[in-house]
Amino acid sequence: MPAKFRRPLLLAVGALLAAAVAVPVGSAWAAGPADPGSPAAQPRIVGGGEASLSDHPYAVYLTDQSGSQFCGAVIVSSSAVATAAHCAKAVSQSDVRVVAGRQDKRGSDGVVLPVSRVWTAPGFSDPTKGDDVAVLTVRGRLPYRAAKLAGSGDRSLYAEGEQATVLGWGRLAEGGDRSDVLRSAQVPLVSDATCQSAYDSYDPSSMVCAGYPQGGTDACQGDSGGPLMAGDTLIGIVSFGDGCAKAGKPGVYTRVAAFSDDIEAQSQSRLFG
Ligand code: ARG
Repeated sequence: MPAKFRRPLLLAVGALLAAAVAVPVGSAWAAGPADPGSPAAQPRIVGGGEASLSDHPYAVYLTDQSGSQFCGAVIVSSSAVATAAHCAKAVSQSDVRVVAGRQDKRGSDGVVLPVSRVWTAPGFSDPTKGDDVAVLTVRGRLPYRAAKLAGSGDRSLYAEGEQATVLGWGRLAEGGDRSDVLRSAQVPLVSDATCQSAYDSYDPSSMVCAGYPQGGTDACQGDSGGPLMAGDTLIGIVSFGDGCAKAGKPGVYTRVAAFSDDIEAQSQSRLFG
């Protein structure tokens, strides 16, 4: 079994069942449900694993007025994090905190910083319509390495089948509990045509999909706003999905390359206005 398959973020029992009964998937879907290289076809890796902040220091989370983690985010400069627009809108700016350097939510490692400014993509209304990206400027400094941003020249990072890593503290299963610790999963990028057939509202100019045809590995509630990485490069931000880890329903991510100029501009600490 390849090492890259050992850390699924979310492992739904339903995905096992789906693999076992070989639920039919759409014809546009490239690989069949019996693909032997897939996590869902290998129940022994179901259960997942922790990720380390020493490998992913840019992974952070957001807490609400009660101190509960509600979304992920990713460090993009020493004073800013990128997240999903729907996360930025979910909690009032004065209540949000950015928690960085804390792999286990139960601990007290790292820093907890308030937010001094919020930029939300102007076109955002609903995740399914795209533009699901925001930049939060923190009060104070983030003493951890920022992720690189995918740019317009990085088309190859979005090629179908390329492996990417999604990170978060979200649910371990659809409808299940959130993770106390950072988790990661490897998911292959899905073609625009395939994602279009899974989601009517899919917009390839501002979104990208990732996941296995048979499901089994995915982001889930609470992971929104968190990073989808190709190596050290941020290529996506967790946005939405139909349930979690369902066959034929890959996770949908904000396509970072389409917003890198905005994210870059909003990450500078010397902005005014
Ligand atoms: N909207 C969810 C959140 O707010 C994230 C959903 C991602 N779902 C998925 N199946 N990839 O946390």
